[in-house]
Amino acid sequence: MADKDFTDSLRPELLRRSVLFVPGDSLRKINKATELAADSLILDLEDGVAFNRKAEARRTVVEALGTLDFGRRERLVRLNPFSTLAPVQLEGLPAEDLSVTLEARPAGYVIPKVETPEHIRLVSDYLDRVEAERGWPSNSIRLLAMIETARGVLNIGQIAQASRRLEALVLGAEDLANDLGARRTRAGWEVFYARSAIVTAAAAFGLQAIDMVFVDLNDLPGLEEECRFARQLGFAGKTAIHPRQIEVINRLFAPSPEEIEQAMRLVQAFAAHQAAGAGAFELDGKMVDLPVMRAAESVLAKARAAGLLN
Ligand code: COA
Ligand code: MG
Repeated sequence: MADKDFTDSLRPELLRRSVLFVPGDSLRKINKATELAADSLILDLEDGVAFNRKAEARRTVVEALGTLDFGRRERLVRLNPFSTLAPVQLEGLPAEDLSVTLEARPAGYVIPKVETPEHIRLVSDYLDRVEAERGWPSNSIRLLAMIETARGVLNIGQIAQASRRLEALVLGAEDLANDLGARRTRAGWEVFYARSAIVTAAAAFGLQAIDMVFVDLNDLPGLEEECRFARQLGFAGKTAIHPRQIEVINRLFAPSPEEIEQAMRLVQAFAAHQAAGAGAFELDGKMVDLPVMRAAESVLAKARAAGLLN
């Protein structure tokens, strides 16, 4: 494969505002996805693909990765889940998914229904061997873990530390609600604990937290509201299932022009007050000190990564 496959590893800071699921057996949808504004694409081999089309989906994903130009969009493949039978082994569907799709060199894999660190380690160790055998840069293939079972939520601190390859934790709210015996609602209180656990574990171990899908394809105001709350909680981005959701998600997970302007004022005022010997001061009736200034700096870093600021 040509070096262009590594273009996304050259991105200064990997933005994952919108992460679009694309059924792996649909070359039409994958093709379409190469023209959409999603930051990351998850070519799905799991629940977006019927059981009798798994082999077809693997072939389609390999063909798509080998022939289409994805530009700067991150190319991820979602594996099928591990069997729940003990002991945990890399066999069956996820093992076949990996061995067939690796030749097409995706940027990374999304592991669904992660319940223990072992699930990540097994994939990571396998990738260690493949990278060594083929002379590929070590740790170049990334991992994202989906948290979508009660066990996954409880073990999240261990899961978050399972591998250097791990870059993000992704909430799967529909599966989680089923596992909990909860009913999904628009307000989402049934998955609130999991959302908080995910952003906390991600922050503790330097990962990104990516929020759940919003299944009502026609309710864009509802999507916008859910994005706002996710950002408030600390999520870096949100999974999408339809092209029309991408613009809303990209907009809501990037700082607004007003936020950028306010952050710039704040950083300048902080520098001036520091120079004058004041650590804390008042701006627009609110107290500003170091943590407030750091939050403003992170708004500016995000704006730069999104190309909204030089
Ligand atoms: N990725 C890329 N393209 C997509 C897409 C997606 N997730 N969802 C829809 N499109 C394309 C369609 O192919 C269509 O393009 P076309 O007219 O050129 O064929 C266009 O966007 C409009 O789609 P629309 O007709 O409104 O939807 P649909 O009936 O084709 O598909 C879904 C509806 C829900 C089946 C589809 O959005 C989908 O497959 N979503 C992802 C589901 C998934 O992966 N689930 C598992 C993870 S939660
Ligand atoms: Mg799921």
